[in-house]
Amino acid sequence: MVFILKPVYKTKFGEAYNSSIEKFIESENFENLRGKVDLILTSPPYPLVSPKAYGNRVGEDYKNWLSGIMKDLKTLLKPKGSLVVEIGNAWEKGIPKMSTLPLETLIEIKNKADLLVCQQFIWNNPNKLPGPATWVNIKRIRVKDSFTHVWWYSKTPNPKSDNSKILTPYKDGMKKLLERQDYNRGVRPSGHLIGDGFLTENKGSIPSNVLTFANSLETKKYRDWCKKMDVDQHPARMPEKLVEFFINFLTSKNAIVLDPFGGSNTTGKVAQDLGRRWVYVEQSKEYVLGSKGRFK
Ligand SMILES: C[S@@+](CC[C@H](N)C(=O)[O-])C[C@H]1O[C@@H](n2cnc3c(N)ncnc32)[C@H](O)[C@@H]1O
Repeated sequence: MVFILKPVYKTKFGEAYNSSIEKFIESENFENLRGKVDLILTSPPYPLVSPKAYGNRVGEDYKNWLSGIMKDLKTLLKPKGSLVVEIGNAWEKGIPKMSTLPLETLIEIKNKADLLVCQQFIWNNPNKLPGPATWVNIKRIRVKDSFTHVWWYSKTPNPKSDNSKILTPYKDGMKKLLERQDYNRGVRPSGHLIGDGFLTENKGSIPSNVLTFANSLETKKYRDWCKKMDVDQHPARMPEKLVEFFINFLTSKNAIVLDPFGGSNTTGKVAQDLGRRWVYVEQSKEYVLGSKGRFK
């Protein structure tokens, strides 16, 4: 039976739904979005050895579940649209052994949803606390696990993307070289040819696929709102800078950005600040209520 979900809140740019993504996929709202979404940007619940508060799945079940959802969500993308999925590392229970499930899941998304992997990124969080605690802090036999995997997929090898929209400020050394306009041209041992173009002022450096953003205090307004409403703050929020990077890189103004596992709605908030439209889906009532605080 076809049904319509009502948004819990709306802004000029977006709509927030309190629903599991599975239910949303069956709704009229989902049908209405088919082929219209420019970017799906999401951090799904991570695979864990023991389930977390918000009901993470375990093992093969996780891999099949998430890749199946991504297969359905793919039908929402415009022909040149992108899907960006962020998943952290996981560890086997009771032994100092990393689980390969996050990587297997990312590959299964490519296979089951028949998508191309455009590029892999690493989000390095320098503020991450040392962990897994038993192996890192207590037994001292592993090092701190501080990055997550961010995979960018699309239906075509040429999705919409423009790295001139995400340039980072030049470092001092490069600024000096640009001023001097003098550099040893020629072939490097790596085979790279350094030609005249190297000293062209391009308004910034092209970033690498290792993205270093601290998860910091940028969400004070959100935290104050959660306290006022007496709801839990989301424990696994993405940094706004990470979201900003992919929205600027892969979309233009007025694009539609969907986050099917929206949490505190970092994606919607950043999308709106950048003049994009957003759709947010989150199954926890409490997190939806908290996320409203991002727009106060
Ligand atoms: C890692 S968090 C996302 C955090 C978010 N990126 C942010 O910055 O706040 C994953 C979220 O997915 C939600 N979730 C889990 N299963 C879900 C489902 N089947 N449908 C919709 N949301 C789900 C969880 O409640 C959790 O808030």
